[in-house]
Amino acid sequence: MEKLLEVKNMHVSFDTYGGEVKAVRGVNFDVNKGETLAIVGESGSGKSVTTKALMQLIPQPPGRIKEGEILFEGRDLAKMNEKQMQKIRGKEISMIFQDPMTSLNPTMKVGNQIMEGLIKHQKMSKAQARKRVSELLELVGIPDAENRINQYPHQFSGGMRQRVVVAIALACNPKLLIADEPTTALDVTIQAQILELMKDIQKKTDSATIFITHDLGVVANVADRVAVMYAGKIVEIGTVDDIFYNPQHPYTWGLLGSMPSLDSEDEELYAIPGSPPDLLNPPKGDAFAARNEYAMKIDFEQEPPMFKVSDTHYAATWLLHENAPKIEPPEAVKKRMEGNANGSSSSEGERI
Ligand SMILES: Nc1ncnc2c1ncn2[C@@H]1O[C@H](COP(=O)(O)OP(=O)(O)OP(=O)(O)O)[C@@H](O)[C@H]1O
Ligand SMILES: [Mg+2]
Repeated sequence: MEKLLEVKNMHVSFDTYGGEVKAVRGVNFDVNKGETLAIVGESGSGKSVTTKALMQLIPQPPGRIKEGEILFEGRDLAKMNEKQMQKIRGKEISMIFQDPMTSLNPTMKVGNQIMEGLIKHQKMSKAQARKRVSELLELVGIPDAENRINQYPHQFSGGMRQRVVVAIALACNPKLLIADEPTTALDVTIQAQILELMKDIQKKTDSATIFITHDLGVVANVADRVAVMYAGKIVEIGTVDDIFYNPQHPYTWGLLGSMPSLDSEDEELYAIPGSPPDLLNPPKGDAFAARNEYAMKIDFEQEPPMFKVSDTHYAATWLLHENAPKIEPPEAVKKRMEGNANGSSSSEGERI
């Protein structure tokens, strides 16, 4: 598989009055051409900061990329200046944010907002751009495009606005699309429609996607691979099957166990005790140790390396050390894993 993006040992910090907030602490991952990587993890784990850093969208100050490489088709984005990044943003990599209203300009006609990027990046004439806008609106399922392009965002429903945002993100055929919780502001039915739409479009355009979500249920449907983040690090990464059928990190067990499943009646949800650590003073050892009921002495002393589970699957937990006791996931989590194996997980060829 051909690599589109390689992130190597990326650290991002914010300098605040209280000290240095170490939001992203040495993250490594790849995205292959055409694939969907989901990033999951609790609030504050560093999902948005990671992806904003890729596009150099971290406000600076207080933020800064302290260390690391962000190789996009071999070019290091971390070393690019603002002018170079402007050529990448929106054209080669584009981003969809959570709330469609903040991504759209309320005072500008929808058609013009989509055309902007086309004229700027693709050097299209007005007439060409107009034609492309109609195609894009059709692609994202907005009927009556001819009239719609002359309307303002407030004349669209929430779901329709997010479709417009998707159209803008796709306008220049980006090689990488980053979607940061693109559906959380929408109601459940509309969420499903937008996810379906993104899945469809990805099949048609073959762009790679990084999909950020709290919702592991969504992941099973849209992703090829999953990265689980905790306290600014990736603690487990693997294919959807690796993560859903064979999770290794106790934090991933916690996330799976706290995921409601549709088919089980005697719903016994597993809650991860405690709360994430303070990133001003990250703890010594494994940042998850204090919440890990299986923690050993070493967890409080030394950071675990990424242990290889298989060619596609890695996890950073001392439980994978050859001398560690063999521990089974909790019952509630095993039930979820069986549920996944019984067919509620993704099926072949189904991705965004
Ligand atoms: N401008 C900032 N100044 C200081 N700290 C910040 C700033 N932006 C983000 N952080 C910190 O970086 C950490 C990671 O934040 P991030 O927004 O990436 O979390 P997240 O995983 O996207 O969470 P959520 O699921 O809530 O969106 C948090 O501890 C957050 O407080
Ligand atoms: Mg976020």
